[in-house]
Amino acid sequence: MCVHTESIRILSHNKKYIPGGVVSVNRAVKPEIVFVKGEGAYIWDADCNRYIDYHSAFAPHFLGHNDPYVTQAVIEALQQKASLFGSGTTVAEGQLAELICQNVPSAECVQLLNTGSEATYEAIRLARAVTGRDHIIKMQGGYNGWHNDVSCNVMTPLSQLGGRRSPGEYTFQPISAGIPVAHQRFVHSVNFNDLESVRFVCEACAVAGLIVEPVLQNVGVIRPKPGYLQGLRQLADEFGFILIFDEVKTGFRHALGGYASIAKVKPDLIVFGKAVANGYPTAVLGGKRSVMDYLVDPHPARRVLLAGTYNAHPVPTAAAIATIKRLLMDDGAVYRDVEALGKMMEEGITEIIKKMELIAVVARQGSAFCIYFMDHCPVDWHDLAMHHDFDLDVEFRKALIERGIYVFPLATKQWSLSAAHSTRDVEVTLREVETALASAAASRQVSKASI
Ligand SMILES: Cc1ncc(COP(=O)(O)O)c(C=O)c1O
Repeated sequence: MCVHTESIRILSHNKKYIPGGVVSVNRAVKPEIVFVKGEGAYIWDADCNRYIDYHSAFAPHFLGHNDPYVTQAVIEALQQKASLFGSGTTVAEGQLAELICQNVPSAECVQLLNTGSEATYEAIRLARAVTGRDHIIKMQGGYNGWHNDVSCNVMTPLSQLGGRRSPGEYTFQPISAGIPVAHQRFVHSVNFNDLESVRFVCEACAVAGLIVEPVLQNVGVIRPKPGYLQGLRQLADEFGFILIFDEVKTGFRHALGGYASIAKVKPDLIVFGKAVANGYPTAVLGGKRSVMDYLVDPHPARRVLLAGTYNAHPVPTAAAIATIKRLLMDDGAVYRDVEALGKMMEEGITEIIKKMELIAVVARQGSAFCIYFMDHCPVDWHDLAMHHDFDLDVEFRKALIERGIYVFPLATKQWSLSAAHSTRDVEVTLREVETALASAAASRQVSKASI
């Protein structure tokens, strides 16, 4: 049983100065644990409990926490007195941009920003500028950041969602207050893996762009059906909208070229974040030069504003360059190693599920996976919301945390392996998964019986 006395003390201190006590309020979860150190596959809390980490801070640490190679590059940048100049270009931003363009087939050129939300915001603004249209399509169950166009329709409860809409779209379900009502009519949420619904919206409205995580990874791991991403490319060509792949979570984690390179589909714009700099704040917006050139169009009426005091700050830029060099080493050995760990994990959990005769499945793409308590891997959020046992999922996660395995204690959140995890870590995890599943299933039986 982990003790969290010191965590509780720190949180109550922070509550005096920060609303809720936590910055980025989606991090406020129970159990309330304050982490103080991360190294490789492990994190430690303020009470000295150690955890094998699968949350990975919502997925950036693909090489593990404080990867020594990346850390050394950051130290060197600071020792060389690299600073933020905010005037003109720098050698480092050119190096990073070149490395990305050399390795990402969909990126003819790139711009650098700080966060995924900034980059998806800019991508949507570009799509509107290029097409002269206002409407955008996003996925029900997809998360693309916190700004007005996309803070809606993520983990929408079935009671709000209603019946399956296909072909069709779901009503705007904000995940934030403060979004102008007038703006909401420009946003259309459709099911992932559903080309007919995209056509449906395109026939009804002038669509500027469609933004999609090529693998839905904010509700676990929902993979695209064969031909789906290709079908989106064809619809973009047919209706003249800008196809945006939001690879903030998939990019660099599944391949340096993004999931787009695995699917062999070229979006018009591609956005990266998270794993790009292995835990340092950098985001990338790239794509076709003809689209990206709107950022520097000589005509002020056509030019799209991109500005950011901290864009390409030397510290995250050095971290991103080092991350890419590390990912390229030994012909991409990191990807092969992490895939082997992912396979070991998937097979191990599947065997446990079978042995325990549970209704559950493992969905996985490389290092990212999720256990769904339903009899099939979901194809979209509606399917997931209808069939998954959310309460059991949360019980299971809490039981794991008690046993030193950190997964985010919110149902369907992705588990992320890193290059720093070892086969021993996976073995320990599998042992604890079995115990935690038994404990969670038993406590669900008790709570069901008492209803
Ligand atoms: C797919 C996707 N897009 C965009 C974002 C927003 O990125 P950020 O939190 O860096 O603003 C996230 C964050 O979780 C994400 O998963």
